[in-house]
Parts: sequence; C-alpha cells; structure tokens
Amino acid sequence: MSASDWIEFWDSKHSIYVNARHEAAHFRRIAEDIRPYAPAGGTMLDYGCGAALAADRVAEPVARLILCEPAPNVRGKLGARFAGNPRIAVRKPEDVAVMPAQSMDVIVIHSVTQYLSPRETDALLKMFRRLLKPGGLLVIGDVIPRKTSAIADARALLRFGRKEGFFVGALRGLVRTYFSDYWRLRKSLGLARYDEAEIVARLEAAGFLAERARSNIGHNDRRMTFLGRAR
Ligand SMILES: C[S@@+](CC[C@H](N)C(=O)[O-])C[C@H]1O[C@@H](n2cnc3c(N)ncnc32)[C@H](O)[C@@H]1O
Repeated sequence: MSASDWIEFWDSKHSIYVNARHEAAHFRRIAEDIRPYAPAGGTMLDYGCGAALAADRVAEPVARLILCEPAPNVRGKLGARFAGNPRIAVRKPEDVAVMPAQSMDVIVIHSVTQYLSPRETDALLKMFRRLLKPGGLLVIGDVIPRKTSAIADARALLRFGRKEGFFVGALRGLVRTYFSDYWRLRKSLGLARYDEAEIVARLEAAGFLAERARSNIGHNDRRMTFLGRAR
C-alpha cells in the first residue's frame, strides 16, 4: 500500500536509509550533533525524532528526554528500544500538546519542518514557546533553503556514504528512492523551504530571539540549523 502523507511514509518500510550501516551512521551522527544542546540535569524534547537509534547518548546528561514521534510503528519501536532507560519517555504529539507550560529546557526539531505546511510550523513554534522555560532553547535543524536542489541532497548523501563505508549502498539507495513513494510525495506534496530571514522572522514572531547556528545538525551542510531563545 502506498503512503498518502508524510507521516504514513515515515511509518512505512521505506528505503531512505539505504542499509543498516547508513541507518546506524545517520542516527549516531544526529545524536552526536544534538548532544551538545542537551541540558545537564534538565528536560529535553526531541519532536519528530524518528527511530532515534542513539537517543541514549543524548539522554546521558539530562534528567529527562522526551522522544515525540507521530508515526505509530516508529513510536512502538522507540518504546520497546528505550523501555529500560528511566531517563527516556516516548510520547505522541497529542500528549506533548497538553504538557505543562514552561516544562522544557531545550526542544529539538530536526529534519521535520520540510514535511509541515508553514501554518503548521507556526503553530508548532507557538506550542514550543509555551512549553519552554524563559531563556529555554529551541533548535530547528535541517531547514531546507529555497535554492537547494535534490542533486545537492544526493551529493551530500554520497559524501556521507563514502565517509561511513556505504557508498555503493548510497548509490543503489538513490536509484531506489527515485522510484519510491518518497519521490511521488515530494512531487505531489512538496517540501517546505525557507531562507534564513524567513525562518528567523517566524521564530521572532513566535516569541524567540533567533539566529542561525554555525553548522547544521547531520550530514547535509547545505541545510541550516536555527537557535531560538525563548524571550
Ligand atoms: C526525516 S525524518 C527525521 C527523523 C529524525 N528527527 C532524524 O533527524 O533522523 C522526519 C520525521 O518527521 C516526522 N513527521 C512528519 N510529519 C510530522 C508532523 N506533522 N508532526 C510531527 N512529526 C512529523 C516523521 O514521522 C519522521 O519521523
């Protein structure tokens, strides 16, 4: 059965991670890049976390790491994987929406905004502002600038594959992806893109002091990470 929206796609048996080696390297890299933002002894939310295979690394310094994922199969696996880790809680977006105001020190949302409409992103930013303590940090990663092409994404994946030992798998995976639901959805639903000034303006409108981070989280350095401090 083919996916009709992005959540269904991410919940399906897709081949975006071209093999197990890629999937492990991907989540290791994301965890390594997110960990410096983890608040020692504090509460952190990773919204749209995906399989988060290395979330236990991110959880080490914090009191509580909340992994929020809408895709039910992915969430089920997260629950099973981290059942033995008292610092990690797995939640769905509906649960996060009713969490108490000012209960988070840091919120990360990485590689998710491209799958949301601008209106959905604005609503989430407002919710994040409510959940964060004053001075708390919002980290939005993998924002796709308007001018980036799919070719640039493919090149970034091949570079990552060469570095992590899955170059041939990456080549094969790119061909598979081209004929997959991903491309069909990318063409029909599109991916949301923002230039730096646009995302900064949206963050400021939602009550953040915003700036672009020096480097993106993850392997794709054409994409951007933004930091918002709750005013
Ligand atoms: C590219 S994956 C990123 C996963 C993870 N953050 C990472 O960087 O590896 C996109 C994630 O966004 C989630 N997602 C898609 N639409 C969403 C929505 N409307 N609300 C929350 N998460 C969503 C998907 O379920 C999927 O886990």
